[in-house]
Amino acid sequence: GPVPGRSGEVPRVRRTTGSLPPAERPGAGKAINASVAAMEPVLDRRRTALEERAGEEALKARLDVTFPATPAATGSIHPIRRIVQDVCEYFEHHGFAVVLGNEIEPDYYTFDALNIPPDHPAREGFDSFWIDDHLLLRPHTSPIQVRTMKLHPAPIAIVAPGRCFRRDAVDARHLFQFHQIEGLLVDEGVHFGHLKGMLTGLCRALFGPAQRVRFRPSFFPFTEPSAEVDTTCPRCKGEAAACGMCGGSGWIELGGAGMVHPNVLREAGYDSEKLSGWAFGFGAERLALARYEVDDIRRFIDSDRDFLEQLGTLS
Ligand code: DAH
Repeated sequence: GPVPGRSGEVPRVRRTTGSLPPAERPGAGKAINASVAAMEPVLDRRRTALEERAGEEALKARLDVTFPATPAATGSIHPIRRIVQDVCEYFEHHGFAVVLGNEIEPDYYTFDALNIPPDHPAREGFDSFWIDDHLLLRPHTSPIQVRTMKLHPAPIAIVAPGRCFRRDAVDARHLFQFHQIEGLLVDEGVHFGHLKGMLTGLCRALFGPAQRVRFRPSFFPFTEPSAEVDTTCPRCKGEAAACGMCGGSGWIELGGAGMVHPNVLREAGYDSEKLSGWAFGFGAERLALARYEVDDIRRFIDSDRDFLEQLGTLS
């Protein structure tokens, strides 16, 4: 029962001390005081516990547990990586293998084996970072063509994404470090029509079913014939007039392509009489500029989180 107060157990016992013999009253009073003193800390602890619980309940009543939490930062896939993934996925779907090359290559794989002999002027065009007389940071992904053909007999079908390096002054269209995606198919009876079909299919997979692709005659030492590949400007849809994205041409240049030169096939140990192949090298940043309608390539390396997250959420 309740202890404090007049009706409690302790007052009742205290009152009974009046009927004790006078000699026993002080002893009984002391015993009662001692037991009250022993009870006090127990009561205090219990009171505190009850008050705390009441406090928590009051707090819960004020807290909105349905309020959205602060989201944890999870990051997003970089737009260049996403382009590389999508291009690889397209080719893997068509039975191609994804292979990776080396970022440092000897001149042999970068130039000689690609039909660019030591004194050929095309070497200059690659504006390479040389490490010594024979090693360089690869200025294109094409060396992987020769490496793969030397390792594997025909037929081969590969796509090879990777970082490339050139001594380019940085501006809205150029970086000293960028990404290319190389493709190579070699088999009997491969012709230019296969190349056009695959690259048109790629652009439609990336940009939509109405996308158009244009092949302009061009020159590369490692292909014959060679072409420059353009796709409809995604901003003006080829309407061209005063478009800042394509400079008014209606087309965006993606890279080079062509039929693998017989000298390249022979150098890799392939029978150039029996086999033929197509190859291409596209700039991943070029594809990303077009797909995300970004007007300055430097934005991809600015580490601007808002920019990257906005593009990263796009499919
Ligand atoms: N390697 C060339 C460059 O970086 C691009 C290229 C053109 C690659 C034609 C190819 C090709 O495979 O067939 O400029």
